[in-house]
Amino acid sequence: MIPAVWPAPMEGVMHPALVAAVNRLKLVPVWMTPFFRVTSQRTPARRLREFIEPFLAGGVPVHVQLMGTDLAALGAAAQEFMKLGAAGINLNFGCPSKQVMRHGSGGGRLRDVPSLLAVVRGVAGALSGAPLSIKLRSGFDRCDSTWYSELRGAGASSVFMHFRTVVEGYRELPFEVALERFSAAAAALDGVTLIANGDIDSAERRDACGSAGCAGVMIGRPWFRDPGLLRRLTGAAGETGDRRCELFQTVVDLAKNDGKFRFFNGRAIELSVMLWGAGNPVLELLKNASDGAWRTIDVLKMMK
Ligand SMILES: Cc1cc2nc3c(=O)[nH]c(=O)nc-3n(C[C@H](O)[C@H](O)[C@H](O)COP(=O)(O)O)c2cc1C
Repeated sequence: MIPAVWPAPMEGVMHPALVAAVNRLKLVPVWMTPFFRVTSQRTPARRLREFIEPFLAGGVPVHVQLMGTDLAALGAAAQEFMKLGAAGINLNFGCPSKQVMRHGSGGGRLRDVPSLLAVVRGVAGALSGAPLSIKLRSGFDRCDSTWYSELRGAGASSVFMHFRTVVEGYRELPFEVALERFSAAAAALDGVTLIANGDIDSAERRDACGSAGCAGVMIGRPWFRDPGLLRRLTGAAGETGDRRCELFQTVVDLAKNDGKFRFFNGRAIELSVMLWGAGNPVLELLKNASDGAWRTIDVLKMMK
C-alpha cells in the first residue's frame, strides 16, 4: 500500500546528518531519496550502500530515486538497491536543472515521451514486479497527460507529479492551477496511483488534492518551514507547534557527536535558509563567526 503522505526528495539538502535527525524525531512515514545518478560505468556496491543506509536507519520504507540514461546500468542499480533493502524504485523525469537535462536526464525526458516510456519499461523489466514509480513535472513547456494511459503497461504503479512544467520552474501559480492539473492527470492515468506535489502546505490543500483524484501528497519546501507537517497530516497525536529549532538542534548535536556526518557551516547555512528563509539570524551568526564555530545555543535562543 502506498502511504498517503510523502516527504519530497531534495538533492543537496537531504545530507546524512539531516536524514538521521529526521529519523530520530520520526518526522516521516516513508522516504524517497534524492536522485542517485547512474552512469554507464558500474557503481561500486559500497557507494550504493553508503547512499541508502542513512535512510534505511529510520526503519520506514525507503524508495530510491534513480536518474540516468543507460538502461542496463539503471536496471542493475535498481536491482542492487532492492537487494540492499529498498521498498521500491522511483525514476526522476522532473529535474529542471540545465546540467541534468543536457545529458538527456530528468525533466528533459518529457520532450521525448517514447524514450521516457522505454526507460520505464526497461527498469520495470529488471525489477520483475517490485514497485516502480516515476516523478515528473506536468509537462516540458506545456501540460500534457495524453500519454499517461501508457504508464501502466510500461510497468509504473504510481506517478508523483509536481504540477508545474519544467519551463515554469518554481514560478508562483495559484493553487487552483495545481488542482486543475492534478484532476486532468488523475483522469488520464489508467489504474496508476497519482501522488500530488507542489505547494501543499496544509490539511486543506491535501484534502483538495484528494478531491481532485490524488491518492496522496508529497511535500518538500513546506515541510521544512513546518517540520511537524507530515506527522500532523498522518494524524500523529499531540503534533503541534514549531519544530524547526528542535530539528536544527538535533542535526547539530548529531554532527558534533559523530564525525561521519561531515556537517559544516555551509550546510548549516543552507539548512537555516530552508527552515527560516533568507536573512535569518542563524545565517547572520554563522556568517559572522570568525572562528567558524556554530553558536547554536545563541541561535536557538534567538529563534524561539
Ligand atoms: C533543493 C531542492 C532539491 C530537490 N531535489 C530533488 C530530487 O533529488 N529529486 C526530485 O525528484 N525532486 C527534487 N526536488 C523537487 C522537489 O522534490 C519537489 O518536487 C518540489 O520542491 C515541489 O514541491 P514543494 O512545493 O512541496 O517543495 C528538489 C527541490 C529542491 C528545492
